[in-house]
Amino acid sequence: VRLRVRPVTRFAGEVTVPGDKSISHRAALLGALGEGPTDITGYLEAEDCLRTLAAVEALGAEVTRKGPGQYRVGGVGRDGFREPADVIDCGNSGTTARLLMGVLAGQPFWTIMTGDASLRRRPMGRVAGPLRQMGATVVGRAGGTKLPLAVRGARPLARLDYALPVASAQVKSALLLAGLFADGPVRVTEPAPSRDHSERMLRRFGVAVETTGRTATLVPGPLRGMPIDVPGDLSSAAFLLVAATIVREGRVTVRGVGVNPTRTGALEVLETMGAPVTRSEAREDGEPIAALTAASAGLRGTTVSGALVPRLIDEVPVLAVAAVVARGVTEIRDAAELRVKESDRIATLAAQLARLGAEVAERPDGLTIAGGTRLRGAEVTSDGDHRIAMALAVAGLVADGETVVEDAACIATSFPGFADCLNRLAGADVVMVEP
Ligand code: S3P
Repeated sequence: VRLRVRPVTRFAGEVTVPGDKSISHRAALLGALGEGPTDITGYLEAEDCLRTLAAVEALGAEVTRKGPGQYRVGGVGRDGFREPADVIDCGNSGTTARLLMGVLAGQPFWTIMTGDASLRRRPMGRVAGPLRQMGATVVGRAGGTKLPLAVRGARPLARLDYALPVASAQVKSALLLAGLFADGPVRVTEPAPSRDHSERMLRRFGVAVETTGRTATLVPGPLRGMPIDVPGDLSSAAFLLVAATIVREGRVTVRGVGVNPTRTGALEVLETMGAPVTRSEAREDGEPIAALTAASAGLRGTTVSGALVPRLIDEVPVLAVAAVVARGVTEIRDAAELRVKESDRIATLAAQLARLGAEVAERPDGLTIAGGTRLRGAEVTSDGDHRIAMALAVAGLVADGETVVEDAACIATSFPGFADCLNRLAGADVVMVEP
């Protein structure tokens, strides 16, 4: 699949975006571990999150689709999973793989997991290591650090007090989920806070989880099924908000977006760059939710580093596009984690943005972007990475001539309907999807 993108002068309107990817995964997993059913609305029906639903089904939970984005997950309780009859394929989804490893660490049977070519390259030792410390057996490729991996759990697992070498919500969540099967509290400390959706949802399900500073502590206990309404995904909304700021006549409101403070780093960066994103219709439903509005602005370069990075880690591709058109230099540092995402996002962004005429220098832990570039349309490729594909399409909205984004089927990983959404806001067919 390729996208053909034409430049636009106007990008305006009000939209919603599909459900939050992180929260959808967690609703499926915790729902399956709960006692009693969990009814989910707003579930992200994209490839990644459907993998998690298929995984809990393979482990014996009953999943019923009630309507678009509506699922009932029949909880089996902490003791109800059974050995799956086949390999669990996590597709492109790091969250499915890592969170599931945590759950499987507490299951007294073997499960074999795999994923697509991108996921099989990604590091799993960061989860396998501490799970082994807790008593689970994890074996597999590359010394048991890469998929395919086989996990055999133990009961009970040993308690754990663990300092993560990198801020990672996936690793933190995996260890907290394993903690549900431990003989005592599990404490996880991060170098900087990452998204806390797991902690929040575990609390909603009745599990004692306490957060103090950078440390989360879970005391094992049963989960009770809970209705979950998944908010819109800020990481999807970010593509539309950035597009609104860089198009000449841009003004976009995205309603019903999750604005958990551990996720809103990109909004702060846009504000620093000169494009404040305003909030309205604020409400709280287990997670803070708001409507977000962004409009055209003369952007300025900025520096993104330190504790801000985990709070915008998935937004770096689209922020890099904003930085290319902004006046002045933008530095993105302390973001080496980007090298082990769905693609090496530092290398992919540097190479593909350069094809559009941007001046981007690759650094070990980030990018230096000389702004003020007038982009010219070109043929670029996503390298199979959904967020790179969408970021490049946004760049195409402000490039001269046509931009062709190759390898764009991956957008279905997280944002089904992305092209339609851009076309609606452009008021014309500016993005064409070619098989
Ligand atoms: C996610 C955590 C982040 C993020 C990913 C989703 C999650 O990864 O990049 O898209 O749902 O926990 P890390 O935790 O590996 O940083």
